[in-house]
Amino acid sequence: NGCPDKHDHHYNLTRSCLELKEKYHFTKDGVHLFITSNGELYQAFCDMTTDGGGWTLIASVHENNILGKCTTGDRWSSQQGGNASSPAGDRSWSNFATFGCTEGATSDDLKNPGYYDIKASDISIWHVPNDTPLSSWKDAAILRYHTKTNFLQQYGGNLYQLFHQYPVEYNKGKCPDDNGPLSHITYDFGSDEKIQQLYGPLSHNEFEPGYVQFRVFNNEKAALAMCSGVKYNGCNSEHVCIGGGGYFPEASPRQCGDFTAFDWNGVGTHQSWSASKEVTEAAVLIFYR
Ligand code: G3P
Ligand code: CA
Ligand code: CA
Ligand code: CA
Repeated sequence: NGCPDKHDHHYNLTRSCLELKEKYHFTKDGVHLFITSNGELYQAFCDMTTDGGGWTLIASVHENNILGKCTTGDRWSSQQGGNASSPAGDRSWSNFATFGCTEGATSDDLKNPGYYDIKASDISIWHVPNDTPLSSWKDAAILRYHTKTNFLQQYGGNLYQLFHQYPVEYNKGKCPDDNGPLSHITYDFGSDEKIQQLYGPLSHNEFEPGYVQFRVFNNEKAALAMCSGVKYNGCNSEHVCIGGGGYFPEASPRQCGDFTAFDWNGVGTHQSWSASKEVTEAAVLIFYR
């Protein structure tokens, strides 16, 4: 049909799916090749349909072993064990380390150079059941939502910059005074009620669905990186928010991990503070636009 696709290299490589859409009019979801400002090449998945498209998948947060407390695979918190001597853990939220593969985004953590290279305004989040193949991500997602507030522009245009302003580090602040930025979200699939259902009954009093929030602290001054789908008002955010630093004092190391203390009252039990099996076994895919 004359439209360029990934087998047609008669176009200059771009830095994001948004640029690919705007300059070359790509309209289908799929994996494409990108180039950073420094010339590094990488592939990323583009969502070219949600709210006009132009969304680049730059990261996924996946919990490979909820009973492994800051062990191998807990890249968005710490792989060094819960320990006050590594208060910022692996520092993945604020460094240039990259890991994982696009097609593996629901089977392991992903962080590509777009995380720090793309200048974006908004984010989109998909909660996709673990091990879902790429072609089914959109249909299999239990929740999909995005911001449309341009909030990222105020924090340097991406999460790498935002987390430099709001370090994900134990004992750098306290709950709730020092909690970080948030944005309202618009649902593409799901609802406030669906978010309520995914987390434990005791968590419900502590958050308000319909937002995404960054860098919150809990009662013990542990830092959590992202509350996807909620604004956290209370101080037991470790059962809902994901990623974080390298030290979670309460019952240490029981709350240390990529999905922190989702399993506080049993894995996937949905009792007391425990999250549902559904959300505990779903990767969180993060897109920029
Ligand atoms: O985050 C929950 C914790 O602070 C209290 O839990 O089990 O002692 O009631 P628990
Ligand atoms: Ca873990
Ligand atoms: Ca992980
Ligand atoms: Ca607590």
